[in-house]
Amino acid sequence: MAERAPEGWHGWDTYAPFYDWENARTLGRRDVAFWVETLRDTQGHVLELGCGTGRLLAPIARSWITVGAESPRRLMGIDRSAPMLARARRRVSRVPRAARPLLMRGDVRALPVRPRTLGGVVAAYGLLQSLLSDRDLDATLLAAATALGSGGMLGIDLVPDLSVWEEYTQRVPLRGRLSAGTTLTLVESVRQERRKGLTIFDEEYVERRGRHVRRHAFQLTFRTLPMAQILARLERVGFRIDAVYGSYNGDPWHSEAGVWLVVARRR
Ligand SMILES: C[S@@+](CC[C@H](N)C(=O)[O-])C[C@H]1O[C@@H](n2cnc3c(N)ncnc32)[C@H](O)[C@@H]1O
Repeated sequence: MAERAPEGWHGWDTYAPFYDWENARTLGRRDVAFWVETLRDTQGHVLELGCGTGRLLAPIARSWITVGAESPRRLMGIDRSAPMLARARRRVSRVPRAARPLLMRGDVRALPVRPRTLGGVVAAYGLLQSLLSDRDLDATLLAAATALGSGGMLGIDLVPDLSVWEEYTQRVPLRGRLSAGTTLTLVESVRQERRKGLTIFDEEYVERRGRHVRRHAFQLTFRTLPMAQILARLERVGFRIDAVYGSYNGDPWHSEAGVWLVVARRR
């Protein structure tokens, strides 16, 4: 049978039950203050692309709560994966109703949003690296530009580590307790397709409860472009670049920086 071409949205449904567990052991909350601060003065509604389990939506929404008042702006999230969104729905249900984010199931390449109605769009934690072709990336940037009003902000966080990730087969980078009586082991293989800029993770989560073992295997693929190409693509669809940072503390960007952050404005 012919192998299906990888898509950046593949794999996330199976990953969903383990995403927060893994994330708590890797990125954690390191980017949260950056997004809260960057969005503090945004005028109008804000949409997070690929909002996943609502890891960022919930704390950002809480930071917008003004005592006794309904927030005039709404935080929203869109994701293609129903299991990721189900987790987000549970997480945001704990945010007070007046500030609770709205969740949508859909694809970031074709946003179900009226033109020029948003004040901000966020593409956090490598979301743009889930778009595996120039066409898909440009469609997403254009969809964001179309949804934003003039002066609207697009914030991007790219993960440069992916393109220099060591290749290996069947390593165990993480192991620990999932819940009382259940342990989890991540078995991971990584391969680079340098000509296409792709990094491919073959993941297997092994869940053990007593003598019962369940295996959850999936593949995630990411594409990393040089910063100059990202900036040129943003300008081409109508953004001007406001700032490029190399850390969540706002240090200046350089090509070896461990974090690549871009803040752009709709012209
Ligand atoms: C790295 S996770 C980021 C989740 C969240 N933003 C965070 O920072 O924790 C990427 C998310 O993007 C979603 N995604 C990938 N490609 C997508 C697409 N084309 N349209 C909508 N969602 C997509 C995945 O389902 C996944 O939930």
